[in-house]
Amino acid sequence: MSLAPLAETTRRDRTSTVRHYLMCRPEFFTVSYSINPWMDPAKGTDTAEAVRQWESLRRAYESLGHRVSLIDPIEGLPDMVFAANGALVVEGRVYGAKFAHAERAAEGPAYLDWFRQRGHETLAASFTNEGEGDYLTLDDVILAGTGFRTDVAAHMEAQEFLGRPVVTLRLVDPRFYHLDTALFPLDGHNVAYYPGAFSAGSLRVLQRLFPDAVIASASDAEVLGLNAVSDGGNVVVNAEATGLILELKRRGFEVVPVDLSELRKSGGGPKCCTLEIR
Ligand code: ARG
Repeated sequence: MSLAPLAETTRRDRTSTVRHYLMCRPEFFTVSYSINPWMDPAKGTDTAEAVRQWESLRRAYESLGHRVSLIDPIEGLPDMVFAANGALVVEGRVYGAKFAHAERAAEGPAYLDWFRQRGHETLAASFTNEGEGDYLTLDDVILAGTGFRTDVAAHMEAQEFLGRPVVTLRLVDPRFYHLDTALFPLDGHNVAYYPGAFSAGSLRVLQRLFPDAVIASASDAEVLGLNAVSDGGNVVVNAEATGLILELKRRGFEVVPVDLSELRKSGGGPKCCTLEIR
């Protein structure tokens, strides 16, 4: 954890804004294949417990005053609970996902249809990308991960469609296969991240763009602590990320800890379950 001068970082006025999230109840959740190092089909999962944990996440958003919309889960798509991967939505424009693995391919059209039916302007991607798993939106830039799932060509495609500058970041640790497993926006202009997930050059980009970032430890990253959701004032985060939680509090954020241990067996946390409709 970096110790920036206290005067700069403590108890700044944090402003939360009301958000609209899309979520998918994990009625068909299980780990039946392995497409990341967290997933071991031999370990077994408890679907009812996954649903309970997911419901507590949904209640946390609602009690913070956020709006939650739901997409129907589809049998045979156990990872559909990870709504973040379904699309990237900026100013009502929906850039569709095109999944890297065949096991999840059908989720892309399912999410895109949900938005089409509600009158959004949509683009079915030509290049592989996993939605908000690899695109994180700040006020002036969209940070975009590549290395495991999303193709750099999709970064350019998203930039053209959305009219926002996209900054490419290279991920190098297979445990942190999506950008949202290693970094989250604290607000519109600052982030928290785990340095070990990034290539040397991408790390220097992050240091240049965000000199006042929250730097997370390996132990916080290993419980998917960076897979958190901030509304600018409140941060919903895995309860096990104790070091990160302390630093967030020190900086004046309200912390809402959640237990999503069952969903972590598939490599997902709070952010993975949450697609923001901007
Ligand atoms: N099992 C899923 C996969 O590997 C987990 C996706 C988590 N989502 C995320 N936004 N990181 O694709």
